[in-house]
Order: sequence, then structure tokens, then C-alpha cells
Amino acid sequence: MTTSWAELMSEIENCSACPLRAGCQRVVPGEGSPTADIMFIGEGPGADEDRLGRPFVGRAGELLTKMIHAIGMERAEVYICNTVKCRPPGNRVPTPEEMAACRPFLRAQVALVRPRIIVLLGATAGRDVLGDGFRVTRDRGKWVEKKGVWIMPTYHPSALLRDETLKRPAWEDFKQVRVKARELLGG
Ligand code: URA
Repeated sequence: MTTSWAELMSEIENCSACPLRAGCQRVVPGEGSPTADIMFIGEGPGADEDRLGRPFVGRAGELLTKMIHAIGMERAEVYICNTVKCRPPGNRVPTPEEMAACRPFLRAQVALVRPRIIVLLGATAGRDVLGDGFRVTRDRGKWVEKKGVWIMPTYHPSALLRDETLKRPAWEDFKQVRVKARELLGG
């Protein structure tokens, strides 16, 4: 599809493939290192992200940032994006059609970044990347390897804010990411 970051970013900015663009303030393509070893994929921008044009900058983002720090990394050295790049109204879950319309962008981001590890945050990212059969409570914490890329599904940080009991299993998943990163990348 796309060959360069500049082209991809312009395609994302100018997309009108689904109705979400018409209802949001800013497009939130993603941010971080274009050559990151670890990529985090969330669901879609919320109100804060929509206002600032950056992913995971609200309450859930603060928690994600802390968890990234806790595994010894900085936001600037990973890549963070979402299944859909425009905010679904009222933070509803993106429809299968909206996800399908945005999927080529996510694929192109993965192809450009070429991460060794992908962390899927929540059920929507899980379904988008691993298919409709994905169930976060059943499938989180288990590595899936696809074409040499190690994929770790876990809970969405918003879920951890709603239900404190999910923090421990999510932390176990992040620790697995830290171990795999050391294994694959050294350090
Ligand atoms: N929730 C998400 O899934 N993505 C964001 O960028 C912010 C909150």
C-alpha cells in the first residue's frame, strides 16, 4: 500500500473512508519511534486524544505511560497507535466497518515500524489483529507469534481504571513483555 511515513500520514489525515472523520476534531495517527521494537495498539482516540491529536494522553494514557516506564522503557522509544485513528462519538467501540476502513493504515504502520513485539490493549485491538474469535479474558497473557512478530494481548488500561483487580494480571502480561524484549533484543 504505502511506501513512506510522509505518504502514510497524509493518507491518514485525508481519509474519508468511514464516517468517523466527520465527527472528530483531530486525527490521531500514532506516535513514537518509527523504528520501535515494541508497538502498543489501543482501541481508538478518546476526548483528550481528539483534542490534542496524540494517542493515550488522557487518564488511560497516564496509566499506560506508567506501565511502559515500569518495564524500563520510554514512550519515545516505543510506537503507540490505535485500531481507528478518529474518535468514535461518545467513546463507543468502533464498528467492524470502521475498523475495516482503518485496518490498511494499521497494517502499513506495522510494516513501516517492523516491531519485534506488539502489545494489544483490550478486546478491540485483539479482535482487529487476531480475529473475531478473540476474547480478552481468555486470550490475554498468551503469546501469539506471527511471521516472527511476538504479540501479547492484555487488558486495556481503561479496564484497569474501572476494575482494580485487573491490574495484577495486566502487570504479569507487561512483565512477560519485558522478559521477551530482553530475550529478543538483549539489554
Ligand atoms: N483509549 C484508546 O484506546 N486509545 C487512546 O489513544 C486513548 C484511550
